[in-house]
Amino acid sequence: MAFQLPELSYPLSALEPHIDAQTMGIHHGKHHAAYVSKLNAALSDHPQLQNASIEELCSNIAELPESIRGAVRNNGGGHFNHSFFWTSLSADGGGSPSGNLAAAIDSKFGHFEGFCEAFTTAAQTRFGSGWAWLCRSADGSVNVCSSANQDNPWMAGVVDCVGTPLLGLDVWEHAYYLKYQNRRPEYVDAFWNVVDWAAVEARFEEASS
Ligand SMILES: [Fe+2]
Repeated sequence: MAFQLPELSYPLSALEPHIDAQTMGIHHGKHHAAYVSKLNAALSDHPQLQNASIEELCSNIAELPESIRGAVRNNGGGHFNHSFFWTSLSADGGGSPSGNLAAAIDSKFGHFEGFCEAFTTAAQTRFGSGWAWLCRSADGSVNVCSSANQDNPWMAGVVDCVGTPLLGLDVWEHAYYLKYQNRRPEYVDAFWNVVDWAAVEARFEEASS
């Protein structure tokens, strides 16, 4: 089929104690796998769309046939968002960014802590299920936003986010409920310990080139 569940580059337990192995196993092996399966099912009668990248599908949601638009929005969004999330995390993560990304964050938010506060607020105040994002705007500046459900910043015109996604945080309950139950703030605090800033910086540089 067109899309496949990507392998994790680290063991399920790698992000302990911040994100537990049981959550990782269900999140990747069940939730993400279901998005991939349902995305492929939606595209099964549309072979011309099966060679598009997941970013292209997300960017062109509004132009997709109406019969599959909702399914691709939810499941294609889910596939991109989770693939992106896994590659934003590392057992060696945490700390803060450096280089051009750090400069862009300082320019927008005053300092790294100001960015963390804005991003945390976006994550905490997203009602129900969704994502918090750090994005790079076309002018090279960075911004923080959040999206509902499995929407993402590629879905221009559909979501309220601007630019290329650099970092995303899944705030669906399935991302934290087993370990943190209803305590989303604790999960968001723990997330900072596993952010792979090298990966985020590389995305910023790629978007800038
Ligand atoms: Fe998720």
